[in-house]
Amino acid sequence: MPERNQTRILLLVAGIGGAIGTTVAAAATLMQVRPEQVAPYLTTPVCAPDLPAPMAFQVAGWDTQPRPLVEALAESAIVPGGIWREVRSGIEAVPLLSAPPVGAPLKVRVETLLTDIEELRRRWPHHRPVLANLLPAAVDPDLTACTTLEALLAHPDAGTLPDLAYVLAALKAGIPVINFTPNRVEIPPVAAMAAAAGVPLLGRDGKTGQTFFKVVLASALKARGLRVDGWYSLNILGNADGANLDDPGRAAGKLANKTRLLDEILGYPVTDAQGRSTHKVRIDYYPPRGDAKEAWDAIDFSGLFDLPMSLRLDLQGRDSILAAPLVLDLARWSVALMQSGIAGPVSDLGFYFKKPVGDDPPITFAQQLAALDRLAERCRRSRP
Ligand SMILES: NC(=O)c1ccc[n+]([C@@H]2O[C@H](COP(=O)([O-])OP(=O)(O)OC[C@H]3O[C@@H](n4cnc5c(N)ncnc54)[C@H](O)[C@@H]3O)[C@@H](O)[C@H]2O)c1
Repeated sequence: MPERNQTRILLLVAGIGGAIGTTVAAAATLMQVRPEQVAPYLTTPVCAPDLPAPMAFQVAGWDTQPRPLVEALAESAIVPGGIWREVRSGIEAVPLLSAPPVGAPLKVRVETLLTDIEELRRRWPHHRPVLANLLPAAVDPDLTACTTLEALLAHPDAGTLPDLAYVLAALKAGIPVINFTPNRVEIPPVAAMAAAAGVPLLGRDGKTGQTFFKVVLASALKARGLRVDGWYSLNILGNADGANLDDPGRAAGKLANKTRLLDEILGYPVTDAQGRSTHKVRIDYYPPRGDAKEAWDAIDFSGLFDLPMSLRLDLQGRDSILAAPLVLDLARWSVALMQSGIAGPVSDLGFYFKKPVGDDPPITFAQQLAALDRLAERCRRSRP
């Protein structure tokens, strides 16, 4: 079928019934009738205005919860009903597929998902499919010993990371993958499979609120020649992600992603005189807040003559409202990269992620913006 007929992105969402998944479904459906309510909040029209990828989306996805998406939207109240009710029938038409049983062998789950994917492709043959992984944060099963795909499929712990079935199915089907979760799916055999299949792999751990501002502020303090002596970051949130992150095992990956990047940006470890880390990050589940996450930062720094100063940042954000547009942006990037022949882990999208995949990702905010320019230019140059 000619390229110009591929006018939409088929956004396949693992975990579509969750806070971000339902917000993505509402935003993508609204985009068709009221683009002015969604498009101004995307980054791609600004950072990559010539991106040769459609702005229109058809969403479908999987969840373990059979609850209809409109019920989940109404219950979470993340998107006010007055905004999405106009497109209720469109959201009701979004295919919600059953997740493959977690107890089944990984290979069987991949095959089940491949059958679903082929069915969705038959239904929308002119759309460009992209997978967005929005599953809950999981305990890292440590699959570093798996150097081949066969070893991965046979590893007894691979099944404990449900994300892998979705990622492997997408790559087998030649579909780009966005890993918005903190879960480490970009292990060597998966990265090699993406590169060999000519498919871009984007991730990991969306950079939506506190960490976004941390990168901006740390980059600014470094550029200004001010030394960071300590940085205390507290998050309170009351959504399902917050409840899940109350489990220290599941929070470990996210905390590591939120912590590591400060030293990298500054170029020195943030410690006291005894070498003890003075960069603290906490995530606390606090039900009254729901999705309205608050992130509070106390930053201690020093200037001329080592004299101390201090800065406070209080972000009263909305977790999924910040995250959903980035998922749509990343879907557009995925399609453009695939069309440009850019495959495997894409490190130049570090702007969007706490722990960018691939080699030598950009570190400071200025470097991350420059990397986006570079990538947009590569996409522009490869256009026929
Ligand atoms: N909101 C943010 O700003 C942000 C930023 C960075 C990363 N993230 C990550 O994005 C992910 C999604 O966040 P969320 O707030 O939507 O979480 P959520 O818990 O609301 O949604 C996860 C969904 O996945 C479903 N699910 C669980 N196991 C499944 C399986 N095996 N197959 C299919 N579906 C399954 C759950 O039923 C739920 O509907 C999390 O990993 C979170 O840490 C979020």
